[in-house]
Amino acid sequence: MSVIDHENYFTSLPREYYLDEGRYTDELAKVWGQQWIYAGHVSQIPKSGDYFTFEVGTENILLVRDGDDVTAVHNVCRHRGLQLCNQPTGRVGRRIVCPYHSWTYGLDGKLLKATRQADGEFFDYKDFGLFPIHVSIWQGFIFISMAEVAPAPVASMIDEKATADMAILDPTRLKVAHEITYYADANWKLLLENGVECYHCPSVHPEFCVSLDSQEMSDYYEDDYVGDLVQGLVIPVKRELESLSMDGKYVSKKLLGEFGRGTPVPDGFGAGFMTQPGYAWGGFHPDYGMIASTLPISPTRSKMVCWWFVHEDAEEGVDYNVDELIKIWDVTNHQDLHIQERQQVGLTSQRYVPGPNSPSQEPGIRAALRKYLDMMGEPS
Ligand code: FES
Ligand SMILES: [Fe+2]
Repeated sequence: MSVIDHENYFTSLPREYYLDEGRYTDELAKVWGQQWIYAGHVSQIPKSGDYFTFEVGTENILLVRDGDDVTAVHNVCRHRGLQLCNQPTGRVGRRIVCPYHSWTYGLDGKLLKATRQADGEFFDYKDFGLFPIHVSIWQGFIFISMAEVAPAPVASMIDEKATADMAILDPTRLKVAHEITYYADANWKLLLENGVECYHCPSVHPEFCVSLDSQEMSDYYEDDYVGDLVQGLVIPVKRELESLSMDGKYVSKKLLGEFGRGTPVPDGFGAGFMTQPGYAWGGFHPDYGMIASTLPISPTRSKMVCWWFVHEDAEEGVDYNVDELIKIWDVTNHQDLHIQERQQVGLTSQRYVPGPNSPSQEPGIRAALRKYLDMMGEPS
């Protein structure tokens, strides 16, 4: 029997799972080192030679546009370990050149030149390329995996309907209108558990519940949510409203994809995806989308990188205002992270033992934690 299963109910994980340093190190290898992690969107690196960096636990990852492809590598020189690119975003041009002794790599990560050491003289260049990371791009969204053998491509994991609904929005023709990184003194699994239930929505998120259909959200976790690494997700908006916003109205005037070309918006339209156990979710509406990627920093600290997307031609101040665009998720994210910090404080008590979860309201927690336990090699 697993640690979450009890005779008549299931719970979250035992207390030490959210505190222990050794377990956290194991998780970086067995969970974060294996699964698909949402890292960014192709519009963030439009030209060959553009890059951005992305941190997961101890690893700093360099993502570079190489023609039509995206290369992901560990951002570590193969000579003496310098971090190659030290900005969140920038351009390397046609080559990646280490600033220390000028070893030079191609945009595909291959070593092209080790200064004053010819190929084959002491070692073969082919053995000292940058350490590669798997990339899977679905609809312009970039996922990475640090596994030896990549999981199945993201496109094969997301169902046809979710893919078709996202395609309606022309998802390669988006731009990032705003980005925020939030930090929380809480274990990353608390962010996951909170994300896969809406039991807390009415009590924690009064603003979110103005436009969110919280019953439909709970039904999703009860009926449609499965334990896959990546899957389709819709953040359901109440039928009579336009978008997920403070008042349920559009927050960007330039509607996305087909809707911008006059196709009527079907009732309750939404598109998106989620990843687990390392949790990311993307929720798209006819006018905008938001993607959040939660990431581990230590056993008791996490961060959440959030990107807001609008139509690539939408103009700030004309079609949208950033404050208005981000407000509903910004308010909601602060509420969630504040709750998780209080939860971390509470479960640090020696007296804490996990209590029963609701089978109808919190089944997502069971599915997510089973996947987690399975990846950790524990009974699930
Ligand atoms: S550490 Fe990069 S070239 Fe020496
Ligand atoms: Fe929440």
